[in-house]
Amino acid sequence: MIVSVFGCGYLGAVHAAAMADLGHTVIGVDIDESKIEALSAGAATFFEPGLPDLLKSGIERGRLVFTTDIREAADADVHFIAVGTPQTPGSYAADLSYVRAALTAIAGIAKPGSLIVGKSTVPVGTAAELVEMLEDRAPDVSLAWNPEFLREGFAVKDTLEPDRLVYGVVAGDRGVRDAAALDAVYADALAAGTPRIITDLATAELVKVSANAFLATKISFINAVSEIAEVAGADITALADAIGHDARIGRKFLNAGVGFGGGCLPKDIRAFTARAEELGRGSSLAFLHEVDVINQRQRQRVVEHAVRLLGGSVNDRRIAILGVSFKPNSDDVRDSPALDVAVQLKGLGAHVIATDPEGIENACRRHPQLTYEPSVNDALVDADLVVLVTEWDEYRNLDPVETLKITRMNNIIDARNVLDPANWREKGWTYVGIGRP
Ligand code: UDX
Repeated sequence: MIVSVFGCGYLGAVHAAAMADLGHTVIGVDIDESKIEALSAGAATFFEPGLPDLLKSGIERGRLVFTTDIREAADADVHFIAVGTPQTPGSYAADLSYVRAALTAIAGIAKPGSLIVGKSTVPVGTAAELVEMLEDRAPDVSLAWNPEFLREGFAVKDTLEPDRLVYGVVAGDRGVRDAAALDAVYADALAAGTPRIITDLATAELVKVSANAFLATKISFINAVSEIAEVAGADITALADAIGHDARIGRKFLNAGVGFGGGCLPKDIRAFTARAEELGRGSSLAFLHEVDVINQRQRQRVVEHAVRLLGGSVNDRRIAILGVSFKPNSDDVRDSPALDVAVQLKGLGAHVIATDPEGIENACRRHPQLTYEPSVNDALVDADLVVLVTEWDEYRNLDPVETLKITRMNNIIDARNVLDPANWREKGWTYVGIGRP
């Protein structure tokens, strides 16, 4: 098939490369010339394992092109919308201006009988509004909603081998035809047995935000319990292992720590509550506000541990921050808990030295006031306190004996509960985890 992808950011660039890998002819479109230039040269504008190889192979096989000229996508059978829906400044609601602009632009070039497929995460009701827009502009073109569940760091695998496909389609024959077009796009995944759920447009929109709200709730649940464990002298990791064996609960997303961040979970739960308010049902999702509050408090808890460990003040103390990206295997620092902790400690007068295998460039752009060291050993030099905030493998695997030779003092906060407390204490460290005795 001929497929176009509008918006070549995180979601769109991966989706375009994956569609080419599946054998489709793909035109990636974006208004940002520098992005298009980089992608055309086979380079991703962000760190994502496996993506550069996928881009290069698509381009070399002649199946993948990137352009700023939307008219090059006019022959596409299917147009994917993969633009961002960021939080609106000063509000919890999602900013839908990029989605509306993409739809208008595509409606201007799409051939009759083609299909527009939304992949962006949107508040429920958005697709219905877009269908109305299409009826005015291009009545022969259809709209479906096909949410994307990819995780950063595993985006290529998640796109090529999704754990489920959800198609939201309009009623009647048109919806049946649209679902068949999506079946053709995802033929390989379907042949491999990927479950496919066909719904109306509203359900498909809600599936995505509900999944992210559930994941956020799970993390905030374990973090809230970790606060109780901390004062009661219990161990949150053993507790999570124990409740996680219950198949109804499951062990995944029960890791207590500094909490969730990134470009999706925080903004999606806020946009969900904003839409609930607009629908007159704010109280039904009021708990998501508490999920957000618990999550923010985790960052504060780490800062409080730091102040306590350093005897009541971090002023003028040297603190090594291990990790600035919001999670490992990503250079994304959007709403990063790690970076927030670093900034708060700096605000309290600490001399903060932050390191990260991939995230320094992005972090530096947002917070140039922090000091960054690409090498973990350089960041550790003479530290009074080490704070492990993003669990990259190289920090998980730090040797307590060697680390102690570099730092000035023996204080460590393991804000992701990934180190072995007994081992670190045995080697002379004052170890503090989150909700660990
Ligand atoms: C998330 C969803 O998982 C994905 O399905 C959706 O498409 C986009 O949003 P992502 O933002 O890439 O993906 O990150 P994810 O792996 O879900 O982690 C989110 C945050 O939760 C990270 O900051 C992570 O460190 C944190 N987390 C995760 C925890 O604090 N504890 C856990 O147990 C798991």
